[in-house]
Amino acid sequence: MALWGGRFTGQSSELFKQFNDSLPVDHRLVMQDIQGSQAWANAITQVGILTAEENQQLQQALEQLRDDVAANPEVVLASGAEDIHSFVESELIKRIGDIGKKLHTGRSRNDQVATDFKLWCRDSTAEVLEQLQAAIQSLCDLAERELTTVFPGYTHLQRAQPITLSHWALAYVEMLERDCSRLRGASKRLNTCPLGSGALAGTAYPIDRQALAQELGFSRATRNSLDSVSDRDHAVELCAVAAISMMHLSRMAEDLIFFNSGEAGFIELSDAVTSGSSLMPQKKNPDALELIRGKTGRVYGNLTGILTTMKALPLAYNKDMQEDKEGLFDTIDTWQLCLKMLLLVLDGIQVRHANAELAAQQGYANATELADYLVAKGMPFREAHDVVGAVVVAAIAENLAIEQLPLTQLQQFAPLISDDVYAILTLESCLAKRCAHGGTAIAQVSEALAAAQQRQR
Ligand code: ARG
Repeated sequence: MALWGGRFTGQSSELFKQFNDSLPVDHRLVMQDIQGSQAWANAITQVGILTAEENQQLQQALEQLRDDVAANPEVVLASGAEDIHSFVESELIKRIGDIGKKLHTGRSRNDQVATDFKLWCRDSTAEVLEQLQAAIQSLCDLAERELTTVFPGYTHLQRAQPITLSHWALAYVEMLERDCSRLRGASKRLNTCPLGSGALAGTAYPIDRQALAQELGFSRATRNSLDSVSDRDHAVELCAVAAISMMHLSRMAEDLIFFNSGEAGFIELSDAVTSGSSLMPQKKNPDALELIRGKTGRVYGNLTGILTTMKALPLAYNKDMQEDKEGLFDTIDTWQLCLKMLLLVLDGIQVRHANAELAAQQGYANATELADYLVAKGMPFREAHDVVGAVVVAAIAENLAIEQLPLTQLQQFAPLISDDVYAILTLESCLAKRCAHGGTAIAQVSEALAAAQQRQR
């Protein structure tokens, strides 16, 4: 049953109905639509549109509908209604007749859908926030397990300086904490109630919109009816927050794919999150991580989609805006799925400590130490940098590490080098030196880990 037949004499074409209907997407708002309708019924009872008795019947019917839908979710889609609002209203009319027909007094689907969607956004941000926190916890656990694990650190994908694996894990903790903070900010900003804004100009009944907002758990009522029904910033912002977070997840995925590669071999991913090749029996592919990396693309696409849909839309509501949900639903689903998968990946990581340590030792990752050593002996840093560059060239030519060059040879590059140099060229010394706040010295990292765990409480 359409809710708007009165003005029409002709029939909708079947193609138009399919094109126009949003139930296949917005059926996911059913619980929010029921919740909003309950609050609206209370609000219009307060201004005398419904009697207390009628309101009670409506509330009961809405609760019954909620239970029925919870028990048989497929009834919603099977109804063939135009959208979720039409579904709920038709169900009420089917169940309680004329009283059901009164519910839409003073309300428009425009303020209704805006409200439902914000309720949904609020509910899902809370869920994602929990998952982000679980991922942070899992990274902290990894950092704790691998607190002292020496790992090669990279710039330009070239071995640069040794770090600890715990330091690597805590870098991603920082990123995910910023994601949480952005998500909390978005959730706070979207938490205003559009209900009672009517189609665009405001509702014609003296509804107490602040009380209505409060009943639905919003921090306040929205302030301008035109903006209320046409604002989709929350969808755009959540898509953006998700895109940034997926960018982080994709970088983590890429790091882990590389660490797991045959060329690196610093970690081994668990069988639970890898797959084999149908042709090459030796293969164990990091599919879970590649999919996290790959799905980042669709999340970016959804952000571009909603921004483009909203661009240059005149005030107030336009049907274009019905396109707001599919992309965000897909974004939140994808994000949640990736976060779930990430937990499984992180839990199953086996570190190949010897390989990682060997790699940290190779690649002249202690060249900076030698330069710092020369600086400590009085050489200006720029000069030290040059000298060490020459030492590295010589070492490469002999296929040796810096610390494998004999003292006499090192002294040819800089006579002020003495045999105390070897102690500073060790991995332990390289790490221990990075002791300022934010550095990879084990003492620093263990403080950083404790602080991160404290922030999670
Ligand atoms: N299904 C619509 C949407 O999601 C509901 C609002 C319809 N309003 C209208 N004036 N046709 O946007």
